[in-house]
Amino acid sequence: MSTRRHILTRSAAVFGAASSGLLLPTMSSAQGAKVRVGFMLPYTGTFAQLGVAIENGFRMAINEQGGKLGGREIEFFKVDDESDPSKGIENANKLVQRDKVDVIVGTVHSGVQMGIQKVARDTGVLSLIPNAGVHAATRGLCAPNVFRTSFANSQPTRALGKVMVDKGHKKAVWITWKYAAGDEAFEGFKEGYTAAGGTIIKELGLPFPQVEFQALLTEIAALKPDAVACFWAGGGAAKFIRDYAAAGLKGKIPLYGSGFLTEGVLDAAGPAADGIITTMHYSDSLDTPRNKKFRLDFAKTFKAQPDVYAVQGYDTGLLLVQGANAVKGDLANKAALYKSMEGAVVDSPRGKWTMSASHNPIQDIYVRQVENKENKVLGVAAKALADSGAGCKMT
Ligand code: PHB
Repeated sequence: MSTRRHILTRSAAVFGAASSGLLLPTMSSAQGAKVRVGFMLPYTGTFAQLGVAIENGFRMAINEQGGKLGGREIEFFKVDDESDPSKGIENANKLVQRDKVDVIVGTVHSGVQMGIQKVARDTGVLSLIPNAGVHAATRGLCAPNVFRTSFANSQPTRALGKVMVDKGHKKAVWITWKYAAGDEAFEGFKEGYTAAGGTIIKELGLPFPQVEFQALLTEIAALKPDAVACFWAGGGAAKFIRDYAAAGLKGKIPLYGSGFLTEGVLDAAGPAADGIITTMHYSDSLDTPRNKKFRLDFAKTFKAQPDVYAVQGYDTGLLLVQGANAVKGDLANKAALYKSMEGAVVDSPRGKWTMSASHNPIQDIYVRQVENKENKVLGVAAKALADSGAGCKMT
């Protein structure tokens, strides 16, 4: 029998069964086809390493379940989104329309996330955000089928300002890539810093993904602030740290940042990173059995040290595992799937966290300082911090 004829015969049989009232499982039910998981992540460009860390973390959580989701085998699909917002919708549609994925795991860049968000809202596909912090995704444009396992852009920086003022740094320059992630990180920084009595004397920026920092560093030297606070990530962060030291600013004007500044870049940045203080929802040196086991397992499996992106990818896997188990693999049972994920207490290497009503983590924010290629915890800057977003009314 030819394949085509076989398919026709089979669908005729299914049709016959359905019309005779027999309840056959659909293709997406527990006993049916593989779960189709689509990674939409940056695999090239300044965020390439972040994409790989997220995918590895996600795979680790799945491997801990014997490679299955709710008892079902998994088929993976991948799109390199290049951190290019202009291709965000098209790339998300490739996964949904062409590859027919059940869930999109992505992405890193806030601008690209807006494309995924549109496709998720238009098609209802389950969207798990393992990094991009764009506020709209869990505020004004939030949706029942969209869950974030990372942070909202202003969360990590909200606690940074007080840390700086407590150290006596009352006049700061802020510097960032000029796009949603940097601008929203600034929103959190500004609120915390001014509330603690600090003054921001200048905001500086570069378009993403430019890394020509020289002129801006010269300007910082001339402004002579008490300290600098920033948002950079990935390859750009490593270069900023090195350029800051090379410009002679290290040791003269203390450098602070959203913790992404020192995530996954400590080898590349070398001693130039020593002493940098940041705030973040994770730290390598968290002294808990959960974190230690995660770090050991990850290093063994991937021959690399995990960073916050690996943790976020891992937590995305944990969340999906919880949801898939609750519906015994039937991801089409959306009401039960979402309910389980909304109520999840994710036992993360970062510490346990819960989902806010608009599907963003409520989590502790740590103060860390770089010492010998490690982010060492200095303390907790904010306990169970929820995003301030109040725009989402979900039923
Ligand atoms: C973002 O674009 O939302 C973004 C990218 C990299 C980070 C954090 C946020 O490390």
